[in-house]
Amino acid sequence: MATQQRKILVTSALPYANGSIHLGHLVEYIQTDIWVRFQKMQGHNCVYVCADDAHGTPIMLRAQNEGISPEQLITRMDQEHRADFAEFAISFDNFHSTHSDENRQLAELIYTRLRDGGYIKARTIKQAYDPEKEMFLPDRFIKGTCPKCGADDQYGDNCEACGATYSTTDLKNPVSAVSGATPVEKESEHYFFDLAAFSDMLKGWTAEEHMQAPISNKLNEWFEEGLQDWDISRDAPYFGFEIPDAPNKYFYVWLDAPIGYLASFKNLCDKRDDLDFDSYVKEDSDAEMYHFIGKDIAYFHTLFWPAMLHGAGFRKPSAVFCHGFLTVNGQKMSKSRGTFIQARTYLDHLNPEYLRYYFAAKLGSGIDDLDLNLDDFMARVNSDLVGKVVNIASRCAGFINKKFDSQLSAHCSEIKLYESFEANGRLIAELYEKREFNQAIREIMALADKANQYIDEKKPWALAKQKGKDQEIHDSCSVGLNLFRILITYLKPVLPGMAEQAEAFLNIPPLTWLDIALPLTNHTINKFKPLMTRVEKDKIDALLADTQKLLAENKPVKAKKTNKSQTMDPIAEQIDFEDFAKIDLRIAKIIKAEQVEGADKLLQLTLDIGGETRNVLAGIKSAYAAEDLEGKLTVMVANLAPRKMRFGVSEGMVLAAGPGGEDLFVLHPDEGAQPGMRVK
Ligand code: MSP
Ligand code: ZN
Repeated sequence: MATQQRKILVTSALPYANGSIHLGHLVEYIQTDIWVRFQKMQGHNCVYVCADDAHGTPIMLRAQNEGISPEQLITRMDQEHRADFAEFAISFDNFHSTHSDENRQLAELIYTRLRDGGYIKARTIKQAYDPEKEMFLPDRFIKGTCPKCGADDQYGDNCEACGATYSTTDLKNPVSAVSGATPVEKESEHYFFDLAAFSDMLKGWTAEEHMQAPISNKLNEWFEEGLQDWDISRDAPYFGFEIPDAPNKYFYVWLDAPIGYLASFKNLCDKRDDLDFDSYVKEDSDAEMYHFIGKDIAYFHTLFWPAMLHGAGFRKPSAVFCHGFLTVNGQKMSKSRGTFIQARTYLDHLNPEYLRYYFAAKLGSGIDDLDLNLDDFMARVNSDLVGKVVNIASRCAGFINKKFDSQLSAHCSEIKLYESFEANGRLIAELYEKREFNQAIREIMALADKANQYIDEKKPWALAKQKGKDQEIHDSCSVGLNLFRILITYLKPVLPGMAEQAEAFLNIPPLTWLDIALPLTNHTINKFKPLMTRVEKDKIDALLADTQKLLAENKPVKAKKTNKSQTMDPIAEQIDFEDFAKIDLRIAKIIKAEQVEGADKLLQLTLDIGGETRNVLAGIKSAYAAEDLEGKLTVMVANLAPRKMRFGVSEGMVLAAGPGGEDLFVLHPDEGAQPGMRVK
């Protein structure tokens, strides 16, 4: 069945160069890698490129904190990322950097074409500025008190406690997270990309199904709200590329990041004669181009990026494929819960192919989050891979090796069974193509069950005790190994390492989809070695323990406040006794303290105030572990009107003092106080 060879360019999102690769990232790189390996096994001309995303304020500041240059930092991270990816068998054809000559040239080219096309406008805007550090502050580097609910230590543009969004200028008591200084407002000229000019093009493009339905629905909402100009410039000091016609202005990291896909590909084309850059990127290209990304960065890839490409005369992506986020044991990966697992820590304890298999077994084509449940992970890998797939080979190999001089039968005695396995390959290929990996795995495991059933029925171990059964043993074990070979072919995009070992054992060249049309007969195999060992519980425990340790060591040291009084709230306006008497303060016993799923700052407290219980959402997680609070007494405002917050209704407040973060102290009454007593 000859199909047309496709030209396919595939990318995964470029990981930021200021952090290590963690298991969440790996959802994406593993998903993309499986798809790419599948395409290559189909004989298509598929190229997979990626790069480190090296620019931006966080990288500049981290390098400063470490006392090194940004270039030194990104070189170190580049090495670390490459090593992690290699061990997880992520088969990039090229891994480059956005801080590269190719990217500078392409960013300048695209920018100048957009400018000459009239899509870039200059405008002066006011922004928060750190007078001590002498730099403009991105929102996430400003912290302060929420203007809506008064929660401390909130980021510049949204409140974790009440979910409000606001502009940084509305934040109360703002401080720069870089220096601790109070930001001032300062004017500066910025460059804007006129996204709205591309509205019609984008609406048409979105309607043509270049992305999943929930993403295009989201885009339609954005179209209705009207597309906004996009600020693509940043003032010095900034680690990035200077804008050609604007000294001291730099491209915002998100301008040159997606261009980094093309830069990495250009870098590869310069190394390989068979790849012609222009033929992939020109407007009427016959090549396909796919971007795999997380749903958090859909906006950049489905609006800005196609508009930039179109405006600069390049082709648009064939499709953008979004995936959901990884949760661990049902909850968002979190440093405080110890589930923020680094790729390297995982590699220290467990086989990377376990994770590749587990993610494949859970990933579909949608954007739902997927959960790594560690008990399920162990059970699944052990029962499917070790118990089913490897088991087929280990049950048959011994007989072939010992009794038949490692030679398979001269013919396949179960050609119907063999052909039914082979025929299933079309459905499995379709499922891989559509990124329905979980369904593909289900099909493959159903076949593995069938193969095991066949061996159960034939019982070569029982035949071996009878006389004159050699031919039957030889045939059935040869069939078993031929079925195993088909299963390994189907699993190869997911488990390249195990497939390689199986190829060595079967003594065959690298398997492709076409090879399985005919069974192996009269063929000499090698001695069988176990292809995969079981996941052991103590390895998982050690992984979690190491993760905890690493998180404790790397706990960020709190920025030193330059002036202590800045953290002290000024005395509030005077009130009279009547005002005070309106506040009903009660002694409360904390009978339960729990995590709130998805909230980084909140604990859910169940309070006993003398026969009545109250649920309170308190923004004290940064300072207290839930278990430290249970059983303790505290003081609560009992007559505060219940407030609906993003994470539920809070029926009061507990009293705590301090500037926030770790420096937050819940008030505890003296011994002898009883729940329900009124505080006067
Ligand atoms: N540098 C940008 C991407 C630029 S692409 C032109 C970025 N980097 S990132 O390191 O934060 O994320 C890289 C990819 O990993 C993104 O697609 C992101 O969605 C994905 N993930 C990061 N954490 C994740 C999970 N917990 N779960 C699944 N994917 C996650 O964004
Ligand atoms: Zn708030």
